[in-house]
Amino acid sequence: MKVLHAAAEVFPLIKTGGLADVVGALPEALMAQGADVRLVLPGLPAIAKGVEGQRVVCELGALFGAGRVTLRLGRLAHNGVAAYVIDAPYLYQRPGNPYLALDGSEWPDNLQRFGLLGWVAAHLAAGELDPDWTPDVLHAHDWHAAMACAYAACHPGTRAATVFTVHNLAYQGLFDEGDFHLLGLPSRLMVPVGLEFHGQLSFMKAGLKYAGRITTVSPTYAHEIATDAFGCGLDGVIRARGADVSGILNGVDGDVWNPAADRLTAAPYSAGSLDGKALCKAALQRELGLHVDAGAPLFCVVSRLTTQKGLDLLLDALPALLDFPAAGGPQLAVLGNGDPALEAAFAQAAALHPGRVAVRLAYDEALAHRMIAGADAMLVPSRFEPCGLTQLYALRYGTVPVVRQVGGLADTVVGATQASVLDDLATGFSFGPATPAALAQALRQAVAAHGQPALWRQLMRRGMAQNFSWEAAAVQYMALYKGATAASGMKAHV
Ligand code: ADP
Ligand code: GLC
Repeated sequence: MKVLHAAAEVFPLIKTGGLADVVGALPEALMAQGADVRLVLPGLPAIAKGVEGQRVVCELGALFGAGRVTLRLGRLAHNGVAAYVIDAPYLYQRPGNPYLALDGSEWPDNLQRFGLLGWVAAHLAAGELDPDWTPDVLHAHDWHAAMACAYAACHPGTRAATVFTVHNLAYQGLFDEGDFHLLGLPSRLMVPVGLEFHGQLSFMKAGLKYAGRITTVSPTYAHEIATDAFGCGLDGVIRARGADVSGILNGVDGDVWNPAADRLTAAPYSAGSLDGKALCKAALQRELGLHVDAGAPLFCVVSRLTTQKGLDLLLDALPALLDFPAAGGPQLAVLGNGDPALEAAFAQAAALHPGRVAVRLAYDEALAHRMIAGADAMLVPSRFEPCGLTQLYALRYGTVPVVRQVGGLADTVVGATQASVLDDLATGFSFGPATPAALAQALRQAVAAHGQPALWRQLMRRGMAQNFSWEAAAVQYMALYKGATAASGMKAHV
């Protein structure tokens, strides 16, 4: 089974969120299941520089406004996975993140930048660009790569099956419909039953309409996106795909996230020997200027600061949290950046509560490890959450998650009730309504449980014993690929 993954991010080269972690880990897990996996990536500065041993596969000439496009093939250093790099300096060699300029605005030519990613992926899948390798499955991730599914569906020579994974339905890749012609696709696609979305061109719809199979990153989110409340206007399109839509839960890369062998933290520890975690906590409190107090329950957040993550609820619940009775008083450590209003509000909270609240408005991979290792509990109060990886990392590190019961959070954390603690089931705390009061109630429960060390250790160890592996996900993707390739032999082209 030859599988080509098309994506805009890959850990450790370029990452804005969990998508990069998935693309950095899933290929190796699929290879362990016997698949022959390659990636196709845009030649962003970190990718053009970081993919090793590149050789030219073909020269593509002028495309999407770029004067010259060259396709190269190399390997990712960390896992040896083969990766095609689309070298198009005019489109990709620029500072900022993959989607946004340094001032936070979207790159004005994102249609061309990600249209090219889809175009190259589809032409690789049609066997046109690399005579030595043609995939059986083209697997596109998020709107950035979605257009590959439309190109593949339009091309009668494509035998590869297509799979599209929605990591986040809220980011859709919407463009001016007048720019549709830049894609070089037949105009019959630019209709409401095709790529048109309320007068705009939608890249997300290319994946949702034309992929042979659609997956999301948790079973609950797969159900949610077929509803009005979570469908971001696309729930009808998703419902129409029926059984083609399924959810496969993400895993944890144990080479990157392992408290017993984490070189980024103050001390190693494991479920059998938790002493190192106390050292990590003290080191984190010192680093962040919090009161160094082993007994104080220390909550952390590691997150993009956006409305998705529900951190405004935390700001509203913060006075209650800080007032809950606990030895030393509850503490909060936040690592994140994004929305300027949220950044300002968290900075203000830190200024108001020195020693109790610490905030780092940054993107810092190493500090993320120290926070997850050092905190007692992790907060993920998301309004919606396709999967969520930080609560999985937290479980692995014995850092008890406090989550909203939604999407992948609901699938991965068993919230404590009196009964579930006694039944040896709970792995964290959860709440339902997206309100500060409901969050505060879960926080109250967590603070109270932290005051009972034997109970808390039980929660920690139960979390650490959970196994959210990429192996389990890869087995499910392999089964999906088999079904998709069998069906694609019978598919009609649009
Ligand atoms: P999302 O993809 O929606 O941002 P996930 O929980 O799936 O959420 O993944 C987020 C990833 O990004 C995790 O690996 C997390 O550790 C990391 N991350 C988020 N914010 C930061 C930050 N400010 N600094 C370092 N890592 C971060
Ligand atoms: C998205 C989602 C997040 C998910 C990640 C990786 O960024 O917001 O929930 O874990 O993709 O699939």
